[in-house]
Amino acid sequence: MSKKLYIKTYGCQMNVYDSGRMADVLAPLGFVPVDQPDDADMVILNTCHIREKAEDKVFSDLGRIRPLKLARGAAGADMIVAVAGCVAQAEGAEILRRMPFVDMVFGPQTYHRLPEMVARASRSRAGAGILDTEFPAEAKFDHLPTETTSQGVTAFLSIQEGCDKFCTFCVVPYTRGAEYSRPVKDILAEARRLVVGGARELTLLGQNVNAYHGTSPDGGTWSLGRLARALAQEVGLQRIRYTTSHPRDVDAELIAAHGDLPQLMPFLHLPVQSGSDRVLEAMNRKHTAKDYLSLIERFRAARPDIAFSSDFIVGFPGETEADFQATLDLVSEVEFAQAFSFRYSPRPGTPAALIETQVPEEVAMARLYRLQALLEEQQRRFNRAQVGRVLPVLFEKPGRHSGQLIGRSPWLQGVHASAPDALIGQVVPVRITDSSLNSLAGALVEDESHAA
Ligand code: SAH
Ligand code: SF4
Ligand code: F3S
Repeated sequence: MSKKLYIKTYGCQMNVYDSGRMADVLAPLGFVPVDQPDDADMVILNTCHIREKAEDKVFSDLGRIRPLKLARGAAGADMIVAVAGCVAQAEGAEILRRMPFVDMVFGPQTYHRLPEMVARASRSRAGAGILDTEFPAEAKFDHLPTETTSQGVTAFLSIQEGCDKFCTFCVVPYTRGAEYSRPVKDILAEARRLVVGGARELTLLGQNVNAYHGTSPDGGTWSLGRLARALAQEVGLQRIRYTTSHPRDVDAELIAAHGDLPQLMPFLHLPVQSGSDRVLEAMNRKHTAKDYLSLIERFRAARPDIAFSSDFIVGFPGETEADFQATLDLVSEVEFAQAFSFRYSPRPGTPAALIETQVPEEVAMARLYRLQALLEEQQRRFNRAQVGRVLPVLFEKPGRHSGQLIGRSPWLQGVHASAPDALIGQVVPVRITDSSLNSLAGALVEDESHAA
């Protein structure tokens, strides 16, 4: 008999990928994904620890799961409640102590052991919770099933995990562990399976994706640029993206790949965090604002239509008005197509949380609004610049209105247009007719020629 599995995903795309793989691991046990927790046989919260808000959300959601579990128990059924991901890794046993109805807690590196954990949980009903937050020596990727339920036009593929950078504000090196690159052969095989399943676009994932240094079929080591070349030439993909990159790990091979590979999309998420060298140093980012700007220039020289996205932290401890102004200056100089910006959130166990000169909340919030206003203006300008142009759009799914499809431009902008369902999965020329902050509207170029 099939069992209902509800997974809620918080945080970054790597968690989205991991949630999909958890479903793959549990599928042979009869678990089928559902979108409501209410009468699920198993609930997994795949959590994020990056900022305080993300963590708080998990605990408040757990508070809502508890009565659901009790109600099922009263009806003679059971609900296994699991906390996975980065909060699980960071808090571990503390979650079982605070929330005794939680049956299992496991980190991002052990979910390939889920079948064992589920068997143990079912045997030891009302027993002690199961905790698995090891960083096992065997790579989880070697133990995940090759079958995947992922069947979209666009797919994620984790190629690298973990981080050795230790930016002073960040929990990721502690929650995800040391840097690890999957072997090239495994990545190509997974990519081929995704293409057979209908994927036209792959986004290669890693906490530090361009630190990739995987073993190649000939026993050497390949960089991300070299891997992208193989994926473009051998796998039959229309589009390749990757995220998230670190400025320190950009090399000449990656920049050259953007010049040579039409499949490598001209849109790059390259977090800079701050435009002030003093703050960058205190963050342990190991590069200056000038280093960042010169990378941008080199990418633009290789691929003139490339556009950039970034992450910013505002109100890092010790940030002065002049430091913040340097961030605004950097933003003005680059002209971003899109960006994420956050108020600094002190995280337990990270060095920056101990710095005494924390920026007062109202000062940080006022800076955040100023930065967001500037970034939003740039994003609107970037979108508006597409109006009147013909863009290749990869259609992904039906839109909100009937007869409409939604797709993406090379720069990841959502585009909606009237188009038949048969075009899902195809890259089609679309003339852009309108733009807003978050999306574009357009018309198929073929329709225009019929009209003319
Ligand atoms: N590996 C990527 C991003 C990791 S987390 C990189 O190196 O850039 C995603 C973003 O969350 C970061 O780029 C940063 O902008 C933000 N972030 C991380 N820790 C944070 C904290 N303590 N407070 C606020 N924002 C944070
Ligand atoms: Fe965190 Fe820095 Fe590593 Fe990115 S590079 S995951 S911000 S420690
Ligand atoms: Fe969050 Fe972990 Fe990703 S902390 S951002 S889910 S790596």
